[in-house]
Amino acid sequence: MTTRTAIVTGAGQGLGAAEATALAAAGYRVVLNDLPGPALDATVERIRDSGGEAVACPGDVAEWSTAESLVTTAVERFGGLDVLVNNAGVLRDRMVFAMSEQEWDTVIRVHLRGHFVTTRLATAYWREKTKKNGFPAYARIVNTASEAFLLGSAGQANYAAAKGGIVALTLATARGCARYGVRANVICPRARTAMTSELMGPPPEGPDPLDPGHVTPLVLHLAGPAGERITGEVFVVHGDVVAVLGPPTVRASFHAATGDWTAHELDAALSTVFTADPPQPGFVCEETLPLADTTFGEESR
Ligand SMILES: NC(=O)c1ccc[n+]([C@@H]2O[C@H](COP(=O)([O-])OP(=O)(O)OC[C@H]3O[C@@H](n4cnc5c(N)ncnc54)[C@H](O)[C@@H]3O)[C@@H](O)[C@H]2O)c1
Repeated sequence: MTTRTAIVTGAGQGLGAAEATALAAAGYRVVLNDLPGPALDATVERIRDSGGEAVACPGDVAEWSTAESLVTTAVERFGGLDVLVNNAGVLRDRMVFAMSEQEWDTVIRVHLRGHFVTTRLATAYWREKTKKNGFPAYARIVNTASEAFLLGSAGQANYAAAKGGIVALTLATARGCARYGVRANVICPRARTAMTSELMGPPPEGPDPLDPGHVTPLVLHLAGPAGERITGEVFVVHGDVVAVLGPPTVRASFHAATGDWTAHELDAALSTVFTADPPQPGFVCEETLPLADTTFGEESR
């Protein structure tokens, strides 16, 4: 059992509620955020009823003041902050040519700005703590992206862009804050929740491979002592699967013979790579799809 403190955003339901519950069951004191309402209070109550320590910190996660109150509450109520789990999210799915300004802004704001403001304030806290103590803080960030980013999900331009941004934010944080003890990683989960119930349909009889509870062991691992050796990584996690993604690779490279490309020379070089007609998006990653029988409501193998 640990006595560390964790923040979880979007903890009123779905993955966030499962993560908060698992962290509390492992002994973490949890500061829980969601939009104000009964769902967040119910998660806090359930944890307290099971003997855990939880406090609600409601508010829009993309607001600076919400992130401030999350970090301050962790410090003032529980004596410090050790783990930040950024999870809150929304969907406003639409093809890019039909997407409204509002649909774009809402999704980018909740996901990307929502991850930024908590990261900004938590890392500043860990930097100060490191300087004060003279040794690196215990500091873990688990961010939440999605395979929608890897796939370039066609009807989710806003969501895929926000999730790609979260991966980049995580890498910059992992590199920029390592000296303050920060370990920052990304999970791309799959789970049957309110967000995905329409897509994934009703749960099967018996054990559900898409139960949010399948995602929590990895979150606990990254939050715990073993997470010390893991930073700037991206995982896909669901059911019995944990996959560690590799970095993008250089698929082909060319050098201009004279130092400057002529149009003809460039065409000759690149036409050896782009042979498919019609062209298919080449940077898309579909390798994570066949990791399990059940993907997004479809049989994948
Ligand atoms: N369920 C999946 O298969 C899946 C797949 C990939 C990624 N994800 C990601 O996992 C995370 C959790 O998703 P979920 O499936 O549990 O969804 P969910 O809809 O069940 O839960 C999301 C929670 O975030 C909260 N929230 C929304 N806007 C907020 C805001 N502005 N401030 C604070 N809280 C806010 C909601 O109220 C809700 O409780 C999201 O970031 C989602 O994009 C989920």
